[in-house]
Formats: sequence, C-alpha cells, structure tokens
Amino acid sequence: MRAHEAGALHGDLGSRGPAWLRTPQDVNALERELWPSTVRRSEEGSLTVGGLDVRDLAATHGTPAYVLDEADLRERCRRFRAGFAGADVFYAGKAFLCKAMVRIIAEEGLHLDVCSGGELTTALAAGFPPERIGLHGNNKSAAELRKAVESNVGRIVVDSFEEIDRLTEIAKQYNAKPKIMIRVTVGVEAHTHEYIATAHEDQKFGFSLFGGAASVAVEQVIKGDALELTGLHSHIGSQIFDVSGFELSARRLLQLHKQIIDEHQRELPEMDLGGGFGIAYTSQDDPAEPADLGMAMFGLVKRECDALGIAMPRLSIEPGRAIVGPAMFTLYEVGTVKDVDGIRTYVSVDGGMSDNIRTALYDSSYSATIAGRASEKPPILARVVGKHCEAGDIVVKDEFLPADVRPGDLLAVPGTGAYCRSMASNYNHVPRPPVIAVAGGTARVIMRRETEDDLLALDVG
Ligand code: LLP
Repeated sequence: MRAHEAGALHGDLGSRGPAWLRTPQDVNALERELWPSTVRRSEEGSLTVGGLDVRDLAATHGTPAYVLDEADLRERCRRFRAGFAGADVFYAGKAFLCKAMVRIIAEEGLHLDVCSGGELTTALAAGFPPERIGLHGNNKSAAELRKAVESNVGRIVVDSFEEIDRLTEIAKQYNAKPKIMIRVTVGVEAHTHEYIATAHEDQKFGFSLFGGAASVAVEQVIKGDALELTGLHSHIGSQIFDVSGFELSARRLLQLHKQIIDEHQRELPEMDLGGGFGIAYTSQDDPAEPADLGMAMFGLVKRECDALGIAMPRLSIEPGRAIVGPAMFTLYEVGTVKDVDGIRTYVSVDGGMSDNIRTALYDSSYSATIAGRASEKPPILARVVGKHCEAGDIVVKDEFLPADVRPGDLLAVPGTGAYCRSMASNYNHVPRPPVIAVAGGTARVIMRRETEDDLLALDVG
C-alpha cells in the first residue's frame, strides 16, 4: 500500500490539487503562471506545447530535454517592453544564453546584460548589436574588459576600485572613453518575500552606499575623466515578489544621484534598477505583471525626482528569470519508482541535479506532472529525484502524482527556463540535455544534447 494518500496532505500543497486530474481547461485556468502559455492537455491526456505532443518530442529528441515555448518567451519580452516603455529592458543572459536566445532577444528589441567573456562572445557571435550590451561582473579580467572596449559595448557596470584603474588603462590603450555605470550596494538585502535593510553590506558586489565607497568611486571616475559615467546601478537580489525592496533601492540611488548633481554639477542621464522579479514555481507563488511592476517603479521614481526637484534619468532594468524561467519546462522519463513505506514514493527520472541544481542548492520548490498520459488513479505524495550518486539529488521535493506512476512515464517540470541549463553540470559524467525550441507546430534544437564524445573531447590526458 502506498504510504501517503493525498487527502491528509493536500492542504500542505495548497489548492492546486493533483496535476494529472486537471482537464485541459484547468491547465489553462489554474496553472497559467506555471506553464508556458501554449501548453495544453490533449484529449488523450498528454501535454502539448506549441502544437506538438511531448510524446513526439521525447521520441524524436530523447529525454531529458529542456523544452522552450518560443511564443511564450517572445510574449514575456513584449510584456516587459510594454510595461517598461520609456526604459531599456536588459535581458540578463546568465539566466539562459545561447545564440538562438540572443537572436530572439535582439528581435524583440531588448538589450542584453552579459556577465562574462563567454556570454559576451556568445552575444557577439549571434550578431547582437554591441551598443545594446551591458557587461557586469565583480571580477572582470583585463581580457574581458579589453574585449568589451574593443567591441564597443554600450556600457560596462563597474564594480570595484581595481576595475576603475584597469579600465582606465585599457581606455587609454584604445584611445576610447567607455560608457560606464557604477554599481552601488544600497543596503537592501532582498529575500523571496521580504527584504531587510542592512547596516553594512556583507557581500562581494558593488560599492557601498553607506560606507561611502560609492561616492568616492563617482568622484574618482568624474575627476579621472577617462571613463564616461552614465549612471548608477543597483541589483538587490533575485526571485523577489515585494516591490518595496526595489522602491527603497531606487530611493537611495536617487539620493546619491541628487548628491552628484549638487557636488559635481553632473546630471547622470541613466539609472539601472537591476533584475530579480519573481516567477511562479508552484501555485503558491503569485508574481506581479510587468505592467504593474513598471507602473510601480516609474511612479516611485517620478515622485522621488519631483520631490528632489530633479529630472528623471532614463531607467533600465535587468530581468533574467522573469523573461525565460516560465517559458521552459524539463521533460524527463521515469526510470524507477520506489515506495519507501510510511514515508513517501521516490520517482527517479533520467536527469537530476546536473540539469537542475536549484533544488539542491537553494532548497527551491518545483512542481511536476505526468506528461504523457492521463490517469484516474488516486494521488500519492511523491518526491521526484534524479539519477546522481547523491541523496540530495532532488528535482521536486513534494508533488502529488498518480498512484500508477511507473517506469516509462514522461514527467514534466515547469519553470526551468532560468538558471537550469545555464547552471547545468556534467556531474557523474552525465551529458547535459538539449534545448528544444517549439513554435507553431515545429521543433528546432537550439542547443544539442551533449554526448559522451563531448565529455571525452575535453579529456586530453
Ligand atoms: N542583474 C544583475 C546584476 C544580476 O546579478 C542578476 C542575477 C540579474 C540582473 C538577473 O536576476 P533575475 O531577474 O534573473 O532574478 N542562480 C540563482 C540566481 C542568481 C542571480 C544572479 N544575478 C537562481 O537560480 O535562483
């Protein structure tokens, strides 16, 4: 007998109910936030995405695979552009980047935030306009900075005094005056549902506002006159639902902005409020619409600027997760089902912590559903685990799956577009899954599956 019938624990997981019992209409109504917008349940009970059945995707491309709903992704780009009209939306490439993704971002008119030489190379290789690229990083190498200056990126977000010196030298060598922003640590530490203001900022990014380093950096750049300071930047964290953290951060940045006007008679034209907008991983999460975020943030900045008697700088934001996270799901195949009597049922899939480290690393919550068929069987509490040699190799901590979940079932985990492929590893020499982009009834591989030959290719010993 299965240990945990759903009834008793149902309340723990909220009102979502067992996923496979939902009708196609329910999938649309209840899980709008969890699944990409073109996902439906077919009459036969399987999921379809972009008009394609996941059973066909699995048969053609194998599992595990990340499946990207291109229409959903483009729609999210458009909603951010519309919600932040008058601002620049920099997609944070660290969430997920490959050449096809870069092209989509370019076509949708977004800017692109890269944070390493590798991301910059990918952006340039896909022909992304350099003037729409911003480079981040707390420890950019001289080579990365040179590449950014050489390729004329739109801005470099400077993070340390060493970097100011390094970039000043490089600017001289290239006879250039690169545009830079100063990353400010504003003393707002954001958590998923809350933020706490910290007296001193105990982390590696940026120049401290309260410690005075930010003002010193501004002065150094202005006096040095080798770099073109365009504005201040702040990023307070990730997977944030509460806009009050952004508001506090914007208010503090604007105070420094005003101080720069007063002290240096320099009105910086831009200001970046960073990324970090939360998405739904389970039905417990209730993310804000980009339009509402835009209205709240513009409203606050406008009010503050009016109160300070200054003009509004041009705003930019850097969403990564909120653009690509909900647009993808991971398709796995179930390999073993183990009923640990009295505790729970362990459903092992053919991937795991190598394709989604977030559960192990951040204790993140995910959802899952049997994707290849419907079932009338009662729900059991299951834990979806991977194939790695580690007890912490968990993909979905708690989910109700049908009692007849069995080897060969396809299982889909939504919300895996951000920080899953980009943080994937070869742990246990497991090759990384492909990314399959689906749109209008057509699937194309935008990142191929890694092979064992790929693994051996690096092994030159
Ligand atoms: N801008 C800057 C300067 C950032 O450092 C980040 C994320 C972003 C924008 C984009 O944040 P988003 O909108 O995607 O939340 N690996 C973690 C997330 C690390 C985020 C690092 N920086 C995760 O899987 O949750």
